[in-house]
Amino acid sequence: MSNSQQILRSEVVLEKYGKTLAGKTVLITGVSDESIAGELALQLSAADPKLLILTARAESKVTGIQEKIRLAKPNVKTRFLKMELSDLNAVRNAVRDLDDVSHIDHLVALAGVMFPPFSKTKDGFESQLGVNYLANFLLVKLLLPKVRAAGADSSVVIMTSSIVRQGKMHFDDFNFSDGQTYDAMAAYGQSNAARVMFVKRLGEKLKNEKIRVFSVDPGAVHTGLQRHCSPEFFDQVAEWKKAGFMIDMDGKPIDIPPWTTTSEGAATVITAMVDPTIAEYNGSYLSQNAVSDHELHTHIYDEDNWTKLWKLSEDLTKEEFSL
Ligand SMILES: NC(=O)c1ccc[n+]([C@@H]2O[C@H](COP(=O)([O-])OP(=O)(O)OC[C@H]3O[C@@H](n4cnc5c(N)ncnc54)[C@H](OP(=O)(O)O)[C@@H]3O)[C@@H](O)[C@H]2O)c1
Repeated sequence: MSNSQQILRSEVVLEKYGKTLAGKTVLITGVSDESIAGELALQLSAADPKLLILTARAESKVTGIQEKIRLAKPNVKTRFLKMELSDLNAVRNAVRDLDDVSHIDHLVALAGVMFPPFSKTKDGFESQLGVNYLANFLLVKLLLPKVRAAGADSSVVIMTSSIVRQGKMHFDDFNFSDGQTYDAMAAYGQSNAARVMFVKRLGEKLKNEKIRVFSVDPGAVHTGLQRHCSPEFFDQVAEWKKAGFMIDMDGKPIDIPPWTTTSEGAATVITAMVDPTIAEYNGSYLSQNAVSDHELHTHIYDEDNWTKLWKLSEDLTKEEFSL
């Protein structure tokens, strides 16, 4: 581990390392008034980037954030990009809309969904795997030339969750028998395991080009994400809190993260983008502003699983991604 974990506000991380963001082009997925991505866009605007490309399913989701940025930082340009992540062709179309953008310094994939009832994406994948992971695999593949064009110290940051500690890829049945054996928490865990393992392999492949690649657990933040959580889930969390900890897939204890503010939730994303002290840990999982790979379990460490996942992702998205 590079340094000890700390819950920090975004302002603190920006104060320390934010200068390198001036003049940069940043693409952020999952922007809305209530999301961590919306908060991240507001926070980053203070560091004078050249352009913030804000993606959402509908323009109305980003107009509030755009207006706040326009009032506070009139020189920072923002641009809405429509992107529906439950349809791989919609992701391809969104990328085509960026033909006039020569490079992207930071590709920050934060959009996601948690515990929805079973449904499938347009391409037939369980929705959490499709939206949280497979769409990102495709997005990174398609936008990597623009990130490469930005040169050294550019970044690819993929959001994940501490639930990765209880998650694994169900390689033999990733669609939960077409919903018959669906368990919303196991499916969210699967999608986050996939995010972390993809980042591990991608980070390894891009290390020599000095492209930063990290997965980020933002902690626990009240946002739109909890919309599918039942009262029973919150009761369960209260039980876990009373017990003091949960157990991961290897039987190690997991501390339950405290609720934090959106500024604190976005801080580890900024750490991933620009903190120079973690550069040598490319591909790592970050939590509370620090490299936290020691928190992961055997299934996630297993490089055969990274290889299997990469191949499966190429097959499912019908896109070869060789590096
Ligand atoms: N909040 C937490 O405590 C927490 C903890 C661990 C991990 N995370 C991770 O943090 C990320 C951000 O979540 P958040 O807390 O900011 O939640 P949020 O407020 O619900 O934001 C998620 C964003 O993703 C978008 N999105 C969902 N499905 C989409 C789709 N099919 N196509 C395009 N966009 C889609 C949502 O847009 P719509 O409004 O249109 O649905 C929303 O803007 C997620 O990836 C989540 O796994 C959050």
